[in-house]
Amino acid sequence: MEKIENSDFKQIGNKLLSWYKENARDLPFRQTKNPYKIWICEIVFQQTRINQGLNHYNNFIKRFPDVKTLAESLEDEVLLYWKGLGYYSRAINIHKAAQQIMNDYHGAFPHEYDEILKLKGVGKYTAAAVSSICFDGKIPAVDGNFYRVLSRIFADDFDISNSRAFIYFSELAHLILPENVGDFNQAMMDLGSEICKPKNPLCHECPLNKNCLAFSLNKVSEFPVKTKKVKANDLDLKYYFVHRNGEFLIQQRKDDFIWKKLFEFPPEISEELIPFIKSVKTVNHKLTHKNLSIEIFNVEVDSEEVWKDFIAKNDFIVTNVEDSHEKSFPKPLENYIENYHTAYRIL
Ligand code: ADE
Repeated sequence: MEKIENSDFKQIGNKLLSWYKENARDLPFRQTKNPYKIWICEIVFQQTRINQGLNHYNNFIKRFPDVKTLAESLEDEVLLYWKGLGYYSRAINIHKAAQQIMNDYHGAFPHEYDEILKLKGVGKYTAAAVSSICFDGKIPAVDGNFYRVLSRIFADDFDISNSRAFIYFSELAHLILPENVGDFNQAMMDLGSEICKPKNPLCHECPLNKNCLAFSLNKVSEFPVKTKKVKANDLDLKYYFVHRNGEFLIQQRKDDFIWKKLFEFPPEISEELIPFIKSVKTVNHKLTHKNLSIEIFNVEVDSEEVWKDFIAKNDFIVTNVEDSHEKSFPKPLENYIENYHTAYRIL
C-alpha cells in the first residue's frame, strides 16, 4: 500500500491554505475577528447550513450587536430571534454565556482556549474555532468535516463512532497544521462542505487530491468508517388545540426533555372538554435522535361557559394567531397554527 511521506504533511496544510485564499466563501463573519460575532456564528452554523442560517445570523447580530446587549436582554426575546433555527437550548446557553462573560470576565471575551471552553454551551470545536480565528490559537477545530477529510487523505479506517475518535483525529490534524490555524480551520470547513462532501465529493476539483490516499486507491466512498448508528427512538405525543373564536390556549414547556422553554398546546384536557373534540391530526416529525408521532386533537369549544370555566381552572395562556407570532413553538405546532390561521380566515 502507498504511504504518505512525513515530508508531505506540512505541504497538505499549506496547499489547503493557498486554496482557501482563492476560494474562501464570502461570508459576513469572515470580515471580522470580533470574538462575539465568531462565537455566535459558530453556534448558529453548527447544525444549520450556511444558506439556511445566514438571515437569522444577520438579524441576530443586528438586534444583539455585542455581549452586553445580549446579556441584558430577556431570554424570551433571544428565543424569538432564534425562531426557525431549532435546537433552542443553544439560544438559552448563549444568553447565559453572555451573562457569564459580563460577570466573570468584566464583559471582555476570554482569549484562551481553556477559558472559552468554560462558557455555557461552548464545546471543544467552538472553543478551538474562536481561539484560532480571533486570537491565533493553535488548536484544530475538529468536527465531522475533519473526520471525513482526514480519514480520506490518510485512508484511515479509525471508526468515527468510537469515543476516542475526537482525540485520534485531533492528533492526525496536528500533523498537517500550518502556521495560520484560524484560516486552516475555516478552510477545512469550506473544503468539507463544498468539495470533500459526504456524498458525491468533487475529488477532481480538490486541491488535496494528489495527497489523498483514498483517492489514489479509488476508495473515497469507503471513508470515513462509521460502525455504530445512533438509533433514533420512537416517541408518541398528544396535544389538544383548545380554541374558541380565534383564541387558543398555550403554555411554556418547563422540562428539559425536548423543546425546552418553547410554547406548546395543552398536553391533556379535563373531561368536560372531551365532547368538543372535533377531529384529530397525526403529524410525524424527526428530531436528531427521535422520531415523533404527534396527535393533535382539534377541540373547538362551542360553549362560552365551558371555555371560561376551563381557563379559570387552569394556568394556560390565552392567545391568538397574531400574538402567537411573538412566541417560539416547535415546528410541527407552528405549522398547525398556520393551517388553523388559513382555515379560520376562510370561515
Ligand atoms: N460553519 C461553522 N462555522 C463556519 C465558518 N467559520 N466558516 C464556514 N462554515 C462554518
